[in-house]
Amino acid sequence: MRAVAVKAFKAEPELIQVPKPDPAEGEVLVKVEYAALNPFDWRVADGALEGVAPHVFPLVLGGDFAGRVDVVGPGDNRFRVGDAVFGQAGRPPVGTGTYAEYVTMPQDGAITYVPDGLSLKTASLLPTAGMTAAQILAAAGVTAGQSLLVIGAAGGVGSLLTQLAAARGVRVLAAVRGDEEQRMAALGAAATIDVTAQDAGSAVRAGCPAGIDALIDLVSADPDAFTAYAAHVRPGGRALTTRSVAGAARLPQGVEGVDFQQHPSAALLDTLAAAAADGELLVPVDAELPLEKAPEALATSRAGGARGKTVFAL
Ligand SMILES: NC(=O)c1ccc[n+]([C@@H]2O[C@H](COP(=O)([O-])OP(=O)(O)OC[C@H]3O[C@@H](n4cnc5c(N)ncnc54)[C@H](OP(=O)(O)O)[C@@H]3O)[C@@H](O)[C@H]2O)c1
Repeated sequence: MRAVAVKAFKAEPELIQVPKPDPAEGEVLVKVEYAALNPFDWRVADGALEGVAPHVFPLVLGGDFAGRVDVVGPGDNRFRVGDAVFGQAGRPPVGTGTYAEYVTMPQDGAITYVPDGLSLKTASLLPTAGMTAAQILAAAGVTAGQSLLVIGAAGGVGSLLTQLAAARGVRVLAAVRGDEEQRMAALGAAATIDVTAQDAGSAVRAGCPAGIDALIDLVSADPDAFTAYAAHVRPGGRALTTRSVAGAARLPQGVEGVDFQQHPSAALLDTLAAAAADGELLVPVDAELPLEKAPEALATSRAGGARGKTVFAL
């Protein structure tokens, strides 16, 4: 089958042929129709999980998928051939990813049905970004009327996080690079801060003189940059990062730092899919490309500039 893979850590991703997998007991073989890109995909190719989990090479990239059940493995199974499903692949060994024509999934893994009214394409965009947005918002502990500063709000996670927070009545200050005010306001941001045009600190202080209730930083890989944003959090508030820099940051007295990690959950996938099917959650598509363009798209993701999600059509 066709797949996009790397033959070694840090090698260039390429479109190659790999053996089609067989579903084991309790698994399904899914014919992938769409796979979504996440920055984690190229981080894994760089070796982010080296020493953490076993790997197989060629290492097929990707975690998010939507497609149809093609084969049901031996034993009882809640899925049937032809079911429209989506989810997040990610069990070890690393390298059996979703940038491929087929992927196997355990029936009790992060896989569920695509509900009526939701396209397979939109479903494929939800798993990593949607579960991250929902779980990090819960971890931030903000409630209606409180303020939340989101750094990197225009990207895949940020676009969904902004909507979920705004729907709860949280006042989102969306920090972005570039003129994204109209787009972020449409997603529910109360204010948009273009960090290339204005001093983010001054803008945050002007909007929230007593300090923000929580920070979610989706961008800063440098603990000092995270520290600078966390300085605006009021005592008792939380500063969360998806970039594992909270442990090394110097946080203000009384501010709790959190190195957030997303956890897969089929139940949460159902909730996100229902919200997307109802039109309550919009998933902005930055680019839709054929699978063979994945190597270029991964390079683009590394360079930055995401405005929503990139999806590959198989
Ligand atoms: N720990 C976890 O469990 C977990 C889960 C999901 C994601 N993540 C990580 O979280 C990060 C965000 O994920 P994503 O899917 O949203 O990535 P993405 O789609 O690439 O979005 C990142 C966004 O940040 C913007 N950005 C970059 N530098 C910025 C800056 N200095 N100020 C404001 N905006 C900036 C980018 O646009 P510009 O380049 O144009 O500014 C882009 O819009 C990634 O590093 C990902 O690996 C971690």
